[in-house]
Amino acid sequence: MSDIGKFVEERLSALKKRPITAATEAGLERSYLRDLIVGKKQTIRADMIEKVAEAIGATPQQLIALQSGEAPARFAEAAVAGRSPVDGKRVLLIIGGGIAAYKCLDLIRRLRERGAAVRPVMTRAAAEFVTPLSVGALAADRVFSELFDREDEQDVGHIRLARETDLIVVAPATADLMAKMAAGLANDLASAILLAAGAPVLIAPAMNPHMWTHPATRRSRETLKSDGIHFIGPNAGEMAESGEAGVGRMAEPLEIVVAAETLLDTTPRPLTGKRIVVTSGPTHEPIDPVRYIANRSSGKQGHAIAAALARLGADVRLVSGPVTIADPAGVTVTHVETARQMKDAAEALLPADAAIFAAAVADWRAATEADEKMKKEGGKGPSSLPLTENPDILAGIGNHQKLRPRLVIGFAAETDKLIEHGTAKLKRKGADYIVANDVSPDSGIGGSGVMGGDRNRITLLSSEGAEEWPEMSKDEVAARLAALVAERLA
Ligand code: C5P
Repeated sequence: MSDIGKFVEERLSALKKRPITAATEAGLERSYLRDLIVGKKQTIRADMIEKVAEAIGATPQQLIALQSGEAPARFAEAAVAGRSPVDGKRVLLIIGGGIAAYKCLDLIRRLRERGAAVRPVMTRAAAEFVTPLSVGALAADRVFSELFDREDEQDVGHIRLARETDLIVVAPATADLMAKMAAGLANDLASAILLAAGAPVLIAPAMNPHMWTHPATRRSRETLKSDGIHFIGPNAGEMAESGEAGVGRMAEPLEIVVAAETLLDTTPRPLTGKRIVVTSGPTHEPIDPVRYIANRSSGKQGHAIAAALARLGADVRLVSGPVTIADPAGVTVTHVETARQMKDAAEALLPADAAIFAAAVADWRAATEADEKMKKEGGKGPSSLPLTENPDILAGIGNHQKLRPRLVIGFAAETDKLIEHGTAKLKRKGADYIVANDVSPDSGIGGSGVMGGDRNRITLLSSEGAEEWPEMSKDEVAARLAALVAERLA
């Protein structure tokens, strides 16, 4: 079954099993919820989003996607496309009273843009540094700050605040807050929540370097670590106080986000222990010291595949031609220029469990490379450029007697007769799959087209036939392909 079908099935069965008291109390019928799941547009009152999401076993973000009419396809795809582990998670952010509190405004934005729902709690001292108004506006939630606020306690209560969350982040964690946590004090809302916490707690300490190294803070640190509290930072650097430097700067918002993602990441890693070789990007074939033959490949698709495989735990060895995009995270990269270098690098990485050839390797190179820049010869027009064929890396490895990986996947960028040409390549190159894509200018992919663009529409060819995938982002194609690799290598 397709991922989309599976997603819808899961939501529908969640709906059947779940007691939907909250939604029925508000007069919502199961048939209404069912329509939402299957993608029929429905309007939901803003204050009901959380309850309805709970009733259908989705996150508020997913529900909003459903409502927009693009879903379920869109978020079923997102579900397999390497989305952030904080997506759809509830993060309780406790803001302590330190100058670094201003960085929390950015932290809230970063968490929310990755799909987390952020519920802010501020200590009294925090409100001296940032206003509850800005914090509340960025979090799109109200700010909780008083333990003995009658309204807050009736509505939510500190125990619910502490329990109904997936992660608690304390940033900045001041020396005072850390000492309170270590001692188990609960005399304000922040410390009471931390004492009642059930979810993992991540703290980002920030304080003057003398305070950080003081024996009292050291004791708190040791205690908190042995209590299982997670730390991010502090970093070394300049302090807000002029002339002060040392360890005590709060970690940057993105570092805190990555730490939160790591803590919440429950992705199964089915490719752990598997080595996968990936080629990506174009090759440059020199004509003379300043000229070369190249093509329009950006490397985006191949790099996205390498990243998606790494997210599933694979030991990914990427051989990249000259590209302007960054090396993917968690991947070992060999940079090459020419087809022959790419071949040598790829073969040196064997044996491997799988190999994916996404590079747009130049078919030909100049038969001889001039040592000096070739000159215009006045009036004679262009001189001819004798070419010679490059080795076919995929065909060499796909048909290799001893070192052929268990799974070999190639690409076929075609401007006509996609299936016919792709199927011929499948056989000739000894591949298990050919990812065929139409790179003609009228392929219907917007902007700059498939080559260099961010979207792709592919047809997956194998001995079992042709499977057309809908147009999606290159990241989504990569995630699906990685899932297929995991299935085949299982
Ligand atoms: O023959 P064509 O270039 O269309 O084949 C495309 C597939 O073969 C891609 O997977 C590409 O990475 C691979 N290839 C290769 N070495 C070459 C040419 C293509 O690995 N010299």
